[in-house]
Amino acid sequence: MTALVTGGTGFLGRHVVAELLRRGAAVRCALRPTSSEEELRAVAAAHGADRLELVRGHLTRPDFCDRAVAGCDVVYHVAAEMTGATAVLFLGNVVATRVLTDAAGRAGVRRFVLVSSLGVYGTAGVPTGGVLDETCPLDPAAHLRDPYSYSKVAEEQAAWAAYREGRLPLVVVRPGVIYGPGRDCLTARVGLRVGKLMVVMGGRQAMPYTHVANCARAVVLAGEAAGVEGQAFNVVDDELPTGRDLVRRYRTEVGGIRRVTIPRWAIGPLSGLCEWYHRHSRGQLPAVLTRYKSQAMWRPRRYPNDRAKQGLGWRPEIGLEAGLRESFAALRQGTPATS
Ligand SMILES: NC(=O)c1ccc[n+]([C@@H]2O[C@H](COP(=O)([O-])OP(=O)(O)OC[C@H]3O[C@@H](n4cnc5c(N)ncnc54)[C@H](OP(=O)(O)O)[C@@H]3O)[C@@H](O)[C@H]2O)c1
Repeated sequence: MTALVTGGTGFLGRHVVAELLRRGAAVRCALRPTSSEEELRAVAAAHGADRLELVRGHLTRPDFCDRAVAGCDVVYHVAAEMTGATAVLFLGNVVATRVLTDAAGRAGVRRFVLVSSLGVYGTAGVPTGGVLDETCPLDPAAHLRDPYSYSKVAEEQAAWAAYREGRLPLVVVRPGVIYGPGRDCLTARVGLRVGKLMVVMGGRQAMPYTHVANCARAVVLAGEAAGVEGQAFNVVDDELPTGRDLVRRYRTEVGGIRRVTIPRWAIGPLSGLCEWYHRHSRGQLPAVLTRYKSQAMWRPRRYPNDRAKQGLGWRPEIGLEAGLRESFAALRQGTPATS
């Protein structure tokens, strides 16, 4: 099997490349002209350097995408702009996906796996303690969340349009928060980090985390499993941490942060106040909290992973304890391992 991987230099992408090489695939990685290839080369050296090919160009260029997908059976589109201005996010995530899906359709690939995000769901209709699964709709008001989520919803919409028109054998993977060595596990799902202060939002709710190696395996399986075209799969591990546990362990095992907890009942009113002041001050204070964002991020919910288990034959092999142990060890060393 020959696979094209975009985003292969990134946190998840490197693990996807490693998993593909371990399974004997030939892997072509589409990199930006400016991407560093050092860590990717190290991954390949450990798993099959002779089966890794690197091509460089811009995913917004149809001629580059045609060359990148030529001769590939499966495309794993992992790349995404994660931060930046809305225009950058839309160019990198929506326009690039549109151009790449067009090229994949022309080339007649067997499968196109799009790595999306659990953040694309509209959660307003999911009550406290309710189930967030693949039956939830895409967020109809993602522009009220943040530019990244907005671009990921638009990216999916572009890919689904190509699928519906019969141009793309699409499978979508929607990971929760990806953690592991090489990433800080105190993310925005836990709360807001201000220097050495962690403002924990609620703290008792389970957070939809997935270890990077577990997630990479799900992504690879999405390119292999039979009969799953046109489906989306949430990828969340079996054992989920709470923000309170994560911060407590972080303080013990890594250190260097203080903690303040905003109780769950106070998140809504605080977000409302923040929105009001943002408007009242004509934008002096950025709307870091809004009621819409807060209910999407911090309302307690359940995150089943049955569809990925049944449809992809996936199991999260790395448990929470082992995953956190290696993540904290990497953070302690200050030079996070990237395995
Ligand atoms: N991290 C999470 O918690 C999380 C959760 C849910 C979903 N996801 C999704 O998982 C995927 C990978 O995320 P990650 O955490 O691995 O991100 P990451 O470490 O920031 O890696 C992003 C990758 O995408 C490439 N890239 C960025 N913008 C690009 C562009 N305009 N054109 C071509 N390549 C570009 C980067 O290349 P360079 O080396 O050139 O920068 C890098 O290889 C993304 O699709 C993301 O939306 C992530």
